[in-house]
Amino acid sequence: MIKIKVENLVKVFGNQPEAAMKLLAQGFTKEQILEKTKQAIGIGGVSFDVHEGEILVIMGLSGSGKSTLIRCLNRLIEPTSGKIYIDELEVTAMTLKELRELRQKKLGMVFQRFALFPHKTVQQNVEYGLEIQDVEPGLRAQKAVSSLELVGLKGWESNYPSQLSGGMQQRVGLARALAIDPDILLMDEAFSALDPLIKREMQDELLALQNRVKKTIVFITHDLDEAIKIGDRIVLMKDGLVVQQGTPEDILTNPATEYVEKFVENVDISKVLTAQRVMRNVGTVAYLKDGPRTVLRKMQDAGISSIFVVNNDYMIQGIVMAEDAAAAIERGEKSVSEIIRRDTPQVVPGTPISELYTMMSNGSYPLAVVDDDSKLLGVIIKGSIIAALAGRSES
Ligand SMILES: Nc1ncnc2c1ncn2[C@@H]1O[C@H](COP(=O)(O)OP(=O)(O)OP(=O)(O)O)[C@@H](O)[C@H]1O
Ligand SMILES: [Mg+2]
Repeated sequence: MIKIKVENLVKVFGNQPEAAMKLLAQGFTKEQILEKTKQAIGIGGVSFDVHEGEILVIMGLSGSGKSTLIRCLNRLIEPTSGKIYIDELEVTAMTLKELRELRQKKLGMVFQRFALFPHKTVQQNVEYGLEIQDVEPGLRAQKAVSSLELVGLKGWESNYPSQLSGGMQQRVGLARALAIDPDILLMDEAFSALDPLIKREMQDELLALQNRVKKTIVFITHDLDEAIKIGDRIVLMKDGLVVQQGTPEDILTNPATEYVEKFVENVDISKVLTAQRVMRNVGTVAYLKDGPRTVLRKMQDAGISSIFVVNNDYMIQGIVMAEDAAAAIERGEKSVSEIIRRDTPQVVPGTPISELYTMMSNGSYPLAVVDDDSKLLGVIIKGSIIAALAGRSES
């Protein structure tokens, strides 16, 4: 389902947009238009869709129009022409009142500079968006606390931003956006100011979080590795225009132009493609209460030779192999507790394929992809990794 639709969006900065629009329609470049009209093209006619529940990355070098574009989505910047729809409602036709409502209810925004209030506590910062919605204080506090927990900041509620590291402050920014439970998160270079290590950690956490909350996320970055790691799809921009859009694999394997080719030529796909990208749905699982007969039956029905065991919260407990289940039935055992192998390898969604490959080549188990709470998100079998890598090396 399409959540956001952008149609031929243009933003001209300057007092004579008509002159610039005319030249734009005739195919003049941003530079030529600036020279001729002194009008700066922020974005010069951009169209794309964002599907519900996906992370769409808008990627491009500095000045390519990314921030202009994302700010047009909630009309923090007024587009010069073109249309934007969210849930099939035309944002570009909304009254200010409708717009305010849309921003408060559906859109959460996270910026590069965390934009926290220094004199407010962490919790007060997170409550801010709810406060302006007149949510009553009790509920506000409750939502803020659970949103802080979601980003791993439980216990930091009464601290002040200055007492937190950059990474933690960015989490507060994220918690603040999540507190209003928006359908859509707009993230403009949200991790760009962080140290590489913290940045990677935040990317992993965003992916894990996304598996739980399933928002529609528009994520801006100028970092290609980041785009490939977290994007379900990427819109690549240059000089205010889209040069290519597609999945990371599309863009890496079939660069549309020489520019894109140059852009991606040094990417090592095994380092940037992640567990998230190659994992499959788990399908059938076994529960601790299941006996060996049930478990074997589940495997037969699903055509698999091993099965993950989870508890009632879907947290992984281990794996049962078909031959062990058969043996347990022979021995007359009533529970699988004796035959669960608890040493099954587990990875987080952001783990690069290069690491998965090493992990898998030693073992005979599928890999379990889990979130921070050990909840099972997906499964990876060797074949899917090989397939993902093959796409690249053939070209
Ligand atoms: N308020 C403004 N007035 C005039 N020109 C502007 C304004 N804001 C942006 N621009 C121009 O629009 C173009 C796109 O800017 P934008 O900030 O969207 O780029 P960006 O891709 O976000 O870059 P960065 O990676 O540096 O954040 C640039 O050429 C910029 O100079
Ligand atoms: Mg920007």
